[in-house]
Amino acid sequence: MYIKIDKLTKKIKGTTVLDDISIEMQGGRVYGLSGHNGSGKTMLMRTISGLIVPSSGTVDIDGKILGKDISFPESIGLLIEYPAFVNGYTGFRNLKMIAGIKNKIDDARIREAIESVGLDPDDKRTFRKYSLGMKQKLGIACAIMENPDIIILDEPVNALDEAGVGRVHDILEECRQRGAVIIIACHDREELNLLCDEIFKIESGRITGHEKV
Ligand SMILES: Nc1ncnc2c1ncn2[C@@H]1O[C@H](COP(=O)(O)OP(=O)(O)O)[C@@H](O)[C@H]1O
Ligand SMILES: [Mg+2]
Repeated sequence: MYIKIDKLTKKIKGTTVLDDISIEMQGGRVYGLSGHNGSGKTMLMRTISGLIVPSSGTVDIDGKILGKDISFPESIGLLIEYPAFVNGYTGFRNLKMIAGIKNKIDDARIREAIESVGLDPDDKRTFRKYSLGMKQKLGIACAIMENPDIIILDEPVNALDEAGVGRVHDILEECRQRGAVIIIACHDREELNLLCDEIFKIESGRITGHEKV
């Protein structure tokens, strides 16, 4: 499993938000995107997810070019910005509904994913009553529950306490063991150092650094 991004540029209304990005990512590793607000982390994640189309350059996912051979990565789990779920459903019911799209996993796996982030699958509260940290945890559970080849988490630990961050670390370790490509954006460099194998620094849409942790 690999992702190879070549000379990727994205312009929106004349503004260059991603500027000539060429990077490669391999399965079994955790990659961090570090950079200030507005530097382009979310845009890069959206592009890898097939949610926005490059102005030029390519995203190659295991030999298939996004937007040409495939519209979206075939196996991807996403948490981009704010987790969006049905307010009137419980956490379990939300994930069950989403799992129903592919019908790849059973209830036991959904429960396991919810437990892995530190939530209770039998919690009767609806999503509306969840705290921000709980919402974020449910978003992470949703992103990993189908054991996707690519996992993209945009600022996943913002609202989490130390125990929550520790759980995310354990979950990512499991995903790494089975060979997934994991990409995390975070403006807090110390959190990234704890979670990642390699860190790309982004400034004004450009990659300005690449470091192995
Ligand atoms: N829908 C949009 N239309 C135009 N510009 C956008 C849009 N969304 C984000 N941007 C711009 O793209 C740049 C990168 O934003 P983003 O990727 O969200 O940054 P980050 O996630 O690193 O905080 C910013 O300059 C932002 O203003
Ligand atoms: Mg962002």
